[in-house]
Amino acid sequence: MTLNAIFQRNISINRLFPPGLQKLDELHWSPIDVIRQASDFLVQGEAVNVLDIGSGCGKFCLAAGYYQPGAHFYGVEQREWLVNEAVKLSDRLGLNNVHFMHKNFTQLDLRQYDHFYFFNSFFENLSQEDKIDDTIDYCDNLYTYYTYYLFKELEQLPAGTRIVTYCSWGKKFLRATA
Ligand SMILES: C[S@@+](CC[C@H](N)C(=O)[O-])C[C@H]1O[C@@H](n2cnc3c(N)ncnc32)[C@H](O)[C@@H]1O
Repeated sequence: MTLNAIFQRNISINRLFPPGLQKLDELHWSPIDVIRQASDFLVQGEAVNVLDIGSGCGKFCLAAGYYQPGAHFYGVEQREWLVNEAVKLSDRLGLNNVHFMHKNFTQLDLRQYDHFYFFNSFFENLSQEDKIDDTIDYCDNLYTYYTYYLFKELEQLPAGTRIVTYCSWGKKFLRATA
């Protein structure tokens, strides 16, 4: 089934993922209405490159790529198995404006991208918070390190850079504005 048919029939994109990933949807992947609003804000007619920092199974990039076919969406994700699932679905749907990388976001030069999406990607490091799996090490210090690293990087981006944060706590993630 094409993504077009899925959206036209109002079928949840979540159903395209394997059951193990569907179970994580409510807490870990962005809701479709949020993706729609975010992609409309991030892409305003121009051919831009948008980076999803911590792209998980690729839900944001895949849906945003459908809503904004003139823009390119890049997902960077630290878990290889999630990147593999994202690439698999992207190939199946034939989307050519969606790209996934298996990396830590700290390995990227953020100046290569025009605009950014961030769904509270570091929260798993906080004790008490639900985890996606046990394939990585978690620690509170990593949350703080990543948060300040990202803030410092975003601060250096040119005026006009658009950043959407979803479900981030104002006090813990300092928002950089254009
Ligand atoms: C809350 S999920 C959001 C997924 C996707 N952006 C969405 O909105 O549907 C956050 C993802 O960020 C990834 N992540 C966390 N820290 C990361 C890092 N330092 N580098 C790359 N990915 C990271 C996690 O593995 C997880 O898959």
